[in-house]
Formats: sequence, C-alpha cells, structure tokens
Amino acid sequence: MKKIDANTDIYCILGYPVRHSKSPMMHNKAFEILGINACYVAFEIRPGDLGDAIKSMKALGIKGANITIPFKEDVIPLLDSISDEARDIGAVNTIKNDDGILRGFNTDGVGFVASLKENLINPKGLKVLVLGAGGASRAIVYSLIKEGAHVYISNRTMQKAILLCNQMRQFSTSIQTLDINDITAKDTISDVSLIVNTTSLGLKPDDPLPIPATYLGKQHIVCDIIYKKTPLLKEASRLGIKTIDGSGMLLHQGVIAFEIWTGLQPPVEEMRKQLEVV
Ligand code: ATR
Repeated sequence: MKKIDANTDIYCILGYPVRHSKSPMMHNKAFEILGINACYVAFEIRPGDLGDAIKSMKALGIKGANITIPFKEDVIPLLDSISDEARDIGAVNTIKNDDGILRGFNTDGVGFVASLKENLINPKGLKVLVLGAGGASRAIVYSLIKEGAHVYISNRTMQKAILLCNQMRQFSTSIQTLDINDITAKDTISDVSLIVNTTSLGLKPDDPLPIPATYLGKQHIVCDIIYKKTPLLKEASRLGIKTIDGSGMLLHQGVIAFEIWTGLQPPVEEMRKQLEVV
C-alpha cells in the first residue's frame, strides 16, 4: 500500500460515470514503480458541476487529470490553453496543471496509433474503414490521416460522417465517406486493410455488429476501441481474422498522458498488467 503523506501529489480522472475506470490502477502502479509520491483517484462529476471541478484543480493544486465521457468537449473552454492536436480534434482527454495554468491535450488518437504500431501495423499508406463519427472517431481519424493512412468514414447518421470528413479535409485529402448500405460498399471494404469500430455498438454483449459479418474477410484486421471482446471481435476471430481490442489504446493514451504530466517514461508492461485485472 502506497504511503500517503503531506507531500503527496494528486492526479485524477473526471467523468460520469467513472467507477468502472481502470486508469487509477494503471497510473498508481506507474507512480509506485517510479517512486513518485503521487496518487491517482477517480472523481465522479455530475454534468452540471464540471466548471467547479476544473476550477478546483487550481485551488487544490491537482497536478493532472484525465477527462472522460461526457466531458471531453465541454472542458475545452474551461482551460487556459490547449494543444494544436486537441484543438484540431475538438476534444481534450488530458490536463496538465502547470503552476496554476491548465493545459489541455488529446492522447486518444496517438494512443490508438501506438497500439497499432505495437501490433506491427504502420498506418502509412494503409486503407482504413472507421465506423462511427463521434468524439472517439474524431481523435482516431485525425491521427490516422496525420500518419498517412487513407480513411473511409461510415456512420449510422451519414450526415455526421460527411461533416467529420469535411472538417478533416484541411489536414489530408486522403479521406472520404462510405455508406456501408450502398451496393458498391462491399467491394470498397474488401480492399481496405483495417476496420476500426468506434461506435458504441458492442458495449452490451447482445449488441448487433456495426458492419455485416459478410463484409469481413481474412485480408482485414478488425479493431475495436472498446476494451473487451465485443460481438464484432468475437465474430472476426471466429472467421479467422486478426483482431485488436481497445486495451492497447487505453494503455497508450495513459502512457502518453503520464509522460506529459511527469516528463518520465512510465513502466508500460506493468501498466498493461493492471488493465488485465478484472
Ligand atoms: P464517443 O465519444 O464514444 O465516440 P459519441 O460521440 O456519442 O461517443 O459517438 C457514438 C457513435 O456511435 C456515433 O457514431 C453513433 O452514431 P450516430 O452518429 O448515428 O448517433 C454511433 N452509434 C451509437 N449507437 C449506435 C447504434 N445503435 N447503431 C449504430 N451506430 C451507433
């Protein structure tokens, strides 16, 4: 058990709900191994209380925070500055308190790319189908195009996919929408290498697949950003297709956040083990 004393620094995650979060275990293990006198806790913040919570970071001298659902966008105007990446994505998942100046970052997209790279997948030149056009999709699409991937975006509400695509065109022209209900969609999809589910379909065990199983082939790698085995990942595995779940993205967004806060390289494998604890 970590010794807490009068000099212990506080880091936290702010979200609603947040009690399921594995970030405290991951970061506390890293602090412990590196011998840093710090403690990471979860605060469940009612949506109307976000402004007070962010202000209290300054008053209490909380050194850093992760921001999760549903606050990643709403937090932006409450900060003193945000990184170019967080601004371009339109969401913040990491805050660093620099002596009373709150700086926002987004480590979700880079975390996702890091999880691909540790699976020996280099996004450069890769054709990728991203399912979903919400907040998580924005961070992932942004990082993929910055890495030189060619991205197709599909979404239940195609209007949102078109909007996202138009916003991201300023960073790369290698981006287009794809309606998976079109008759030609199957041919296009058969030609992509990576399929990434960023929709919430799969959070519940009896959710339908976000894409028809008949569209999946052995040439694909199927990723989900949800960190358990979703129906999509189960079906892909059953078909003999390589899969990657969201645990790598969760790990690496945390690793990058830790580096931002401390300037130190955390013990990645020990952090990964914490995510495996049920
Ligand atoms: P997040 O921050 O996790 O990305 P979000 O911004 O609420 O969450 O986005 C959720 C995504 O899941 C959206 O792309 C949403 O599609 P719509 O834009 O059409 O709402 C998608 N999604 C949620 N429920 C879905 C469902 N039942 N079928 C298909 N897509 C769904």
